[in-house]
Amino acid sequence: MKKLFLALVVLAVALAGCGKEEAKEEKLLIYAGLMEDHAAMAVKEFEKETGIKTEFVRMSSGETLARVRAEKDNMSASVWYGGPVDAFVAADEEGLIEAYKSPVAEKIPANFKDADGTWTGIYVGYLGFVGNKSVLEEIGAEMPKSWEDLLKPEYTGEVVTAHPGSSGTAYTMLSTVVQLMGEQEGMEYMQKLNKQVRQYTKSGTAPGRMVGLGEAGVGITFLHDAIKYRKEGYKDIIIAAPAEGTGFEIGAVALLKNGPDSENAKKFIDWALSKKAQEMGQTVGSYQFLTNSEAVPPKEAMEIKDTKLIDYDFEWAGLNRRRLIEEFSRVSKTTAPTK
Ligand code: G6P
Repeated sequence: MKKLFLALVVLAVALAGCGKEEAKEEKLLIYAGLMEDHAAMAVKEFEKETGIKTEFVRMSSGETLARVRAEKDNMSASVWYGGPVDAFVAADEEGLIEAYKSPVAEKIPANFKDADGTWTGIYVGYLGFVGNKSVLEEIGAEMPKSWEDLLKPEYTGEVVTAHPGSSGTAYTMLSTVVQLMGEQEGMEYMQKLNKQVRQYTKSGTAPGRMVGLGEAGVGITFLHDAIKYRKEGYKDIIIAAPAEGTGFEIGAVALLKNGPDSENAKKFIDWALSKKAQEMGQTVGSYQFLTNSEAVPPKEAMEIKDTKLIDYDFEWAGLNRRRLIEEFSRVSKTTAPTK
């Protein structure tokens, strides 16, 4: 009897152990800042190639930054994949990123990566304007061709942009304007632009879709996102780049500090930097320029290759992010939307 009892206890303990193991089946978790369909494809391909179970959560830049701040002592993701590098610089300043120099980063030119391995660039996107031909015709307006144009009376209530507090795209806009005009004049400009804005969206891609649907005449967005929507069937979409010059993003990848699975995270980063992984984006409509010197950029990006760019300072933009957003919120009397 005693033996039977003992055997049952052993069996129960073993079964409990099994259950635990099953419940603990761990997956590499990624916070993704690039388009949802791009992240889904990347995770699937990586999993297929390596057998490492991987999942992702798509968030805009400011949301990811807020999440990793909140999780500082209990990080649930191990990789931050995509979205403008400005927020990575801000996160690093707060001790949320672990430097990792991937061997594959040798293929990435020095201007697209941090020298200490804090972040490494995977793509480059140019900021600009997206317009809806029919809506503009209806209101009797031309496509805006400069930052200054956006302040013209015909665009009052016609402009959509994301909010710099939630969106990396919109923070690129804010930081571009400040870098172009100087801080005081830049904030005055943002205050004037605020009068033109119909809606501040949470994500940086929403303005392109809204303009494509004819819900607004003009949007501020990354040009490659507008090209994607046009190609997907929003035929009235037209694009332009501001004559004064425009800012750009380096979309980055980084290792989160104290994430649960640094080893597999490094494998993912190596993979994300590879020619093959970078070239895959265009199969799902991600038309950014690529950072791996061997990767062939999408032909769709050629349309905007001669865009006049400013000498955008990412380090400055990241280190001044919090202050500029606070100042923007003050002059525009807005806060970042949560939906
Ligand atoms: C899109 C673009 C990316 C960009 C990202 C920023 O996914 O294709 O190039 O990095 O938006 O997103 P956010 O919502 O933070 O502006």
